[in-house]
Amino acid sequence: MTIDNDTAANGAGDDGSAPLASRFPSGFSWGAATSSYQVEGATSTDGRGSSIWDTFVAEPGRVVDGSNGDTAIDSYRNIEGDVALVKEMGLNAYRFSLSWPRIMPEGGGRVNAAGIAYYSALVDALLEAGVTPWVTLYHWDLPQALENAGGWPKRDTAERFGEFAAAAHEALGDRVKHWITVNEPWCAAFLGYSSGEHAPGRREPAASIAAAHHLMVAHGLAAQAIKEADPEAKTSIGLNFYPVYAASDAPVDVDAARRIDGVQNRFFTDAALKGRYPEDVLDDFGAVTDFSFIEVGDMELINQPLDILSVNFYSQFTVTGADGGSVSASAAPTDSDSAWPANDHVGFVTTGLPQTDMGWEIAPAGLTDTLKRLHDNYPGVKLAVTENGAAFPDKLLDGQVADSERLDYVRDHVAACADAIDEGVPLIGYFAWSLADNFEWAWGYTKRFGLVYVDFETGRRYFKDSGKWYGDLVRQARSNREAE
Ligand code: FCB
Repeated sequence: MTIDNDTAANGAGDDGSAPLASRFPSGFSWGAATSSYQVEGATSTDGRGSSIWDTFVAEPGRVVDGSNGDTAIDSYRNIEGDVALVKEMGLNAYRFSLSWPRIMPEGGGRVNAAGIAYYSALVDALLEAGVTPWVTLYHWDLPQALENAGGWPKRDTAERFGEFAAAAHEALGDRVKHWITVNEPWCAAFLGYSSGEHAPGRREPAASIAAAHHLMVAHGLAAQAIKEADPEAKTSIGLNFYPVYAASDAPVDVDAARRIDGVQNRFFTDAALKGRYPEDVLDDFGAVTDFSFIEVGDMELINQPLDILSVNFYSQFTVTGADGGSVSASAAPTDSDSAWPANDHVGFVTTGLPQTDMGWEIAPAGLTDTLKRLHDNYPGVKLAVTENGAAFPDKLLDGQVADSERLDYVRDHVAACADAIDEGVPLIGYFAWSLADNFEWAWGYTKRFGLVYVDFETGRRYFKDSGKWYGDLVRQARSNREAE
């Protein structure tokens, strides 16, 4: 095996560390990720039903630039173009999500054949290009019909999701073996139903906790349906993790860190992998809810055997419980601590680390720590980083985007993954967020996360320097392994 130490992709450290591309095992999944509402467009095409995001973006003031996903980056009409980008980077995996209202316009019952046809064609194109599809079933675009009936705070929504998962698997399961049930239930429940920064924009803390539970019931029903249909299928849930540090040793700060860590990192993971919610978080939530929505047998249902824990990682939090802590970490433009129900008066403190265009602190070592902690606390499940990336204000100049900050971010986080592998973490994949610039929720088109730059006027795509670098790394990593 020969390794060219001079290529940027190899990234050999001055300290004599092994070249980055050689630090990953064979069979490692190298991917990029997107989600349906953020890229597809074609929101009223071929019988797609309406989603809560269609409704939300139409309300003035919800999205900073007043934009919407009606066109997004037109992925619905551009399977060939998107798959060509994935292929050109040499990726062997691609994570995308299914639009539930495209497949079941009313949220349950009737299946829309045209919706299935689109995803089927996408899966075929990926397989043809040698790329393994990783399918997310829920990335936040709930059918509006189900929100009209009460949304995630109502149990029926979870039951409908189980049906949707079974229908999606029936259509695609012959070719799709990697299934992520729910993406970031924290965001769907608490940004959607507590702070109201995401669709459906409700500000009902008690209902948001019921929503969180029903998202987990939905996960359980979907994972169960998929395994019943195909015991060989790999099931997973996508959770967003952050190391949470106390701003000081003062008891109020230490307790703030416990509370945020509990809701953010332990609540969903303990439910999925241990079949229980953490006692301390239940105590905190007890201030606003009586948990009457938890039914006998729910925790067993949620605790389905999982093959992979999907880890979305962007940043770290430092928190204070003292009055006057400045709220600065921003999940969305109107960020507030109401995204953590029953955790009033938590302040998010900046520590002076460099930040991305989202105001998120850049902390790659936190990814290594997160992966190690997850492996320690939940042994027996494989891990995959299914989202990691950064927004920066890119400039397209003569067809080039010199995004050195994003390149550094991705390189340092890939290296953090290699460090975790060195320490025994069973990490099987890394997916950059995102394949291409897209609709960043309440931030509209003002935040660019892509490895590929998209001219939002024309839809034209251009590889950024980070995308070229990532492609070089992946091709090198894969050819090293194939040469062995
Ligand atoms: C994650 C979401 C993804 C994208 C990134 C930046 O929380 O899953 O859709 O918005 O953040």
